[in-house]
Amino acid sequence: MIDLHNHLLPEIDDGPDTWEETLQMCRMAVQDGITHIAATPHISPESRISSKVIEEKVQQLNDRLDEAGLDLDVTPAADVYLDPGIFSLLESDKLLTIGEKKRYLLLEIPSVIFPRYLGRFIFELQTRGLTPIITHPERNIAIQQDPFLLREIVQQGALIQVTAMSMTNGFGSRSRKCIKQLLRADMVHLIASDAHSIDHRPPLLSSAVEAAARIVGLAQAESLVNSNPQAIMNGESLM
Ligand SMILES: [Fe+2]
Repeated sequence: MIDLHNHLLPEIDDGPDTWEETLQMCRMAVQDGITHIAATPHISPESRISSKVIEEKVQQLNDRLDEAGLDLDVTPAADVYLDPGIFSLLESDKLLTIGEKKRYLLLEIPSVIFPRYLGRFIFELQTRGLTPIITHPERNIAIQQDPFLLREIVQQGALIQVTAMSMTNGFGSRSRKCIKQLLRADMVHLIASDAHSIDHRPPLLSSAVEAAARIVGLAQAESLVNSNPQAIMNGESLM
């Protein structure tokens, strides 16, 4: 499985504090059947984390994984907050995107309101050749009340990533109900862990796939952690 949203890098994000905790997260991910992780620290115009720092940390992590004999590949990316200031960052910073060919961008929206300018924002990204992947909309209060607020932006070409733990009820019944509705309407493209630690939000996907399989069948559920994230990593279109 491929996990495209994960805060496992130490020192520069709000996940683990130490490399030891990072490696514990990696062991846990490998045991769950995860082979690839995108390390996605939070990025906003205010944050001072450069793509170079993310790239160096990921290199360090891959070296440590080799030393530890853990069969896991980590790739650098970012969890980009919805803010007009990101356009200037994009022009100067190649690593804000996820996967090859600078085609996809993880885009985090506010947790309470549904931004009325989201469609316009997505259009602006698309004119720059980017397809946004909206991260965990099932945790947004307005979207929980009306999941079909997302229909227009999905038709526009945005992709939807939900959190594994929401699928297994870790974010409450509203998030879980929202995901069910989105899955049935074929509006979920990825399941990712959005992991921050080994306990509160762990780097696990398999239980969420099992839960999704009960709603949309195993083949569809597996595509959310296999073929879809693989296509994104390759900079290709989803099937
Ligand atoms: Fe995140």
